[in-house]
Amino acid sequence: MRILVTGGAGFIGSHFVRRLLVAGEDVVVLDKLTYAGNPANLPDGVELIEGDIALAEDVNSVGRFDAVVNFAAETHVDRSILGPDEFVRTDVTGTLVLLQAADEQGARYVQVSTDEVYGDIEPGAASKEDDPLRPSSPYSASKAGGDLQVLAAVRTYGVNASITRGSNTYGPNQYPEKILPLFVTNALDGAPLPLYGDGRQVRDWLHVDDHCAGVELVLREGRPGEIYNVAANEEHENVELTELILDATGADRGLIQHVEDRAGHDRRYSLDTSKLRALGWSSTRNWNEGVRATAEWYRANRAWWEPIKRSGGFRDYYERQYARRLAAT
Ligand code: NAD
Ligand code: DAU
Repeated sequence: MRILVTGGAGFIGSHFVRRLLVAGEDVVVLDKLTYAGNPANLPDGVELIEGDIALAEDVNSVGRFDAVVNFAAETHVDRSILGPDEFVRTDVTGTLVLLQAADEQGARYVQVSTDEVYGDIEPGAASKEDDPLRPSSPYSASKAGGDLQVLAAVRTYGVNASITRGSNTYGPNQYPEKILPLFVTNALDGAPLPLYGDGRQVRDWLHVDDHCAGVELVLREGRPGEIYNVAANEEHENVELTELILDATGADRGLIQHVEDRAGHDRRYSLDTSKLRALGWSSTRNWNEGVRATAEWYRANRAWWEPIKRSGGFRDYYERQYARRLAAT
């Protein structure tokens, strides 16, 4: 099977590409190589086409494919608050363009979406696949828009598409703007860890290997028009994650700085994963061990993240995001 992986040069997409190669599949990657896309994430020899999922001519340049798994997206909530336009363009229009290509080719389609489309939920509750969409940020609103395009394409045009909704994912190769790689790399450098608000927000942590296994299962066995939640049910407050990172890196507790909260900050996500588990999926990675192993990967792979953190683009973003917050504490 020739499988198109869009956004394959990013964090989760690149792990998914490796997984497909192990399974013996023929893989082609289409990636715009935004600030988050990095060819160094991909194994040597993978076919990589630089292009934009929101441009039909770029998607058509790929040629024939039997299936497409769409990881391509603008993904960072804080960036969506600073500037939402690109999120709508890629996460909604890009999804629509890819669906049209899948329709023309009669290809299987998997949309990689997120638990954030459900919005935050009360302690004790868990979001199910048919719950209403209540996105809070420009990022999650854009992802919800993409999901709705998928469901419309299934119903109206009969596209063979399914959706996965994964929870907060961690592991090697994650761009160091997200909390885990940001805090690990800052801790390794003795720099402050800017914890938003009271730090008691809850995220449900999923190792990238388990996330990719869930997406692959849905690619092969998911049904058209169906949505599948993916989560390990490892719910932890951000303060707890921060403590674990300090322990794993041996850094000083004094690095923690409580800073101004994120606008519209979701308090808690939690997913009911019984539907995917009924297909045979279960998580394999323990959170404590997985976070420690990830911290070790960053310790051993400075050559991967130091150039990113030194680059002008990252420093500009970090300044805009944190300079005012850190100065205020
Ligand atoms: P990432 O930001 O690491 O990578 C995104 C990739 O998409 C990059 O390689 C980038 O260059 C590419 N891209 C961006 N715009 C593009 C465009 N217009 N055309 C082609 N390529 C483009 O993202 P990630 O964290 O690996 O997330 C991958 C997918 O999984 C996203 O759809 C995201 O919404 C979803 N997701 C992520 C998480 C998480 O915790 N990271 C959890 C659940 C779901
Ligand atoms: O839930 C799935 C989502 O997880 C994905 O769809 C998104 O693409 C991914 O970015 C992630 O979104 P979050 O907003 O949950 O991830 P982030 O790492 O940005 O933040 C995690 C938590 O940590 C959140 O409560 C905000 C907090 N935080 C984050 C950063 C970057 C801090 O306290 N300080 C920080 O510097």
